[in-house]
Amino acid sequence: MSLPRLGVNIDHVATIRNARGENYPSPLKAALLAQKFGADSITIHLREDRRHIRDKDLIEIKKKLKIPLNLEMAPTKAMLKISLKYKPKYVCIVPEKRKEITTEGGLNLRKNSSLIRKIIRELKKKNIRTSLFIEPDIEDIKIAKKIQADCIEIHTGKICNLYNKKQKTKDEFKKIQKSVNFANNIGLEVHAGHGITFSSAALLSKIKGIKEFNIGHFLIGESIFIGIRNCIKKFKKILKK
Ligand code: PXP
Repeated sequence: MSLPRLGVNIDHVATIRNARGENYPSPLKAALLAQKFGADSITIHLREDRRHIRDKDLIEIKKKLKIPLNLEMAPTKAMLKISLKYKPKYVCIVPEKRKEITTEGGLNLRKNSSLIRKIIRELKKKNIRTSLFIEPDIEDIKIAKKIQADCIEIHTGKICNLYNKKQKTKDEFKKIQKSVNFANNIGLEVHAGHGITFSSAALLSKIKGIKEFNIGHFLIGESIFIGIRNCIKKFKKILKK
């Protein structure tokens, strides 16, 4: 079986830049360094409020990056227009609430499936791979398949949180493994992301069938201490197990 890919999310390089309104640190520089040190793709989330990544970052990174760019976006017509214009290789559709600190949960596919289905259809016309960020839930996986998503990304926030608080992860682990198996059996590629640290990555690496991990906040934070090169190498080594 092939090794899982590592997508490096660089949103929080932009968070640091924006905190002072300067033009550094540069998300483009982070994307190119991550590419050099072994990232398989670069993820950016262009939020409606542009709190970290901005349109200019998307344009620059898309222009210079050689590995795939994965654009996370809310399921809106405005974001669809942007993605059709700049054509990232991958799009991951995520729920978005203005007041949240981070993406708190997966998409509510029971409510939004017709709009998301239309977005997927438009993206497919441009050969853009579409992934849906969802909870480990069989019904949502069935809907993802029905509306023709190429992949799902399982929200790992809950299991990572439990792990960090040294609480039991067994039930959530089982739920994720069951969801991964189900999705793979119906032909969906499975990714995972949110809240992943070195130690929770080691736990998640035991789940079979995940093809891609998208990791941001911890990786960028830890890079302050050990450098982005070492951080990427360490994550790749852990996920290989
Ligand atoms: N995957 C998706 C779909 C996300 O929305 C995020 C957070 O924006 C991540 C992965 C990365 O999460 P974290 O920054 O906690 O590593």
